[in-house]
Amino acid sequence: MTEKLWGGRFSERTDRIAETFTASIDVDRRLYAHDIQGSIAHCRTLAKADVITAQEADTLIQGLIKIKRAIEHREFEFDESLEDIHMNIEARLIQDLGKVAQKLHTARSRNDQVALDVRMFLREETLAVLQDLLRLRRVLVDLAGGHLDVLLPGYTHLQRAQPVLLSHHLMAYYEMFTRDFERFEDAFGRMDVMPLGSAALAGTPYPIDRHYTAQLLRFSKVAPNSMDAVSDRDFIMEFLSDASIAMVHLSRMSEELILWSSSEFGFVEIPDAFATGSSIMPQKKNPDIPELVRGKAGIVFGNLLAMLTLMKGLPLTYNRDLQEDKGLLFQGTDTLKACLGVFIAMLGKIRFNAGAMGRAAMSGFLNATDLADYLVAKGMAFRDAHKCVGEAVKYALSGGKELRDLTLEELKAFSSSVEKDVYTILETEAMISRRASFGGTARRCVVSALETARANLEEDGRRLDALVRRILDSDSNQSP
Ligand code: ARG
Repeated sequence: MTEKLWGGRFSERTDRIAETFTASIDVDRRLYAHDIQGSIAHCRTLAKADVITAQEADTLIQGLIKIKRAIEHREFEFDESLEDIHMNIEARLIQDLGKVAQKLHTARSRNDQVALDVRMFLREETLAVLQDLLRLRRVLVDLAGGHLDVLLPGYTHLQRAQPVLLSHHLMAYYEMFTRDFERFEDAFGRMDVMPLGSAALAGTPYPIDRHYTAQLLRFSKVAPNSMDAVSDRDFIMEFLSDASIAMVHLSRMSEELILWSSSEFGFVEIPDAFATGSSIMPQKKNPDIPELVRGKAGIVFGNLLAMLTLMKGLPLTYNRDLQEDKGLLFQGTDTLKACLGVFIAMLGKIRFNAGAMGRAAMSGFLNATDLADYLVAKGMAFRDAHKCVGEAVKYALSGGKELRDLTLEELKAFSSSVEKDVYTILETEAMISRRASFGGTARRCVVSALETARANLEEDGRRLDALVRRILDSDSNQSP
């Protein structure tokens, strides 16, 4: 059992059970690089304020870099009795350097350290999620562009409703993932705030320049309130909210791929490389990847709900409950990134069955609304037209026919205003091209949506690259 760095006022050793119960090292060791980077910036800040000498800062920084290497080469022994990553690193520094290392913790507390580390970690994760979302949006645009003219029945209530272009359907998901992209980009601004210098909760009497620390760590803002900085985790809740919404979108798309790949639909072929077989039924090819994505959505929602519940009763400022945030966050980011990654790869190889989709779009009275509109154009009120077409559908159904299979005489029996021109109105392609309102499924609308999407993707890509360079490029001498 290692001696506690906070042990001065204690006269009894921590019970082994309590020690194991409170330790978080197994989870938060993942933050070691951020913790060390934060400590290096803190050393420089202390030196700039003449709290330690430049030489002391240098010694500490070299010591921290050595520890980072040791962790990366698996030569670092994590000690549960030292609770967390912050204490493990500091204790090792003291062991390696002796007296000078006792100065590192001047003007800071673990509360600021953990708030910093998580923000740094989450900035990187958010950038990775943004990159994945950009890739996914590109894949969708390519798929839509490559299947511009494929017909598909559009559904409401999972009943065939009106024909659409498959490209239009795919672009609906593009829009959802674009909003997800915007949400994460927006959330980034609120996590990009530097909390060090809060010194537990009230600020510090040492004359440190927090803006300098922020600059070293590439934060665009400094937390303006020391109590808020150490006690809120709304940036985690926000990330998990945005992640949950993105998982809803992935899950809905998964559900469609599962349905569409069934023999009942037969609209899509999931590539062999992204499907699995059955251990007993030799004929089977199962859509496990979309099923797992659909299932994992529940994990991320759970992470969000647990995080909200964890926070809701906490008085200011830091409370140890907050230690539980990291497991939830890590599982949330890992799950979202894994789902995005596998989706991007799978969609890149997916094959649509244009024949089956087209046939389905041609049958099931998807042109009934258009026949009603036709009658309206001939002077009938819409409700009357609706009833009249309903009766025509009933009649056609009884004969196992579609509306377009009825003769002119048969159609005229429902309304005398039906003329020969009705048949062009009832054609699937004609129906689609008539839906040319902005945002509609007409080919020219989809083509223009694709053009806009490609331009937006370029611009979003440029903005994201600039952000990645600002946060991650390691030309600064402060990154070990
Ligand atoms: N391991 C702690 C956490 O994750 C770090 C902060 C501990 N602060 C404290 N006052 N015990 O929240």
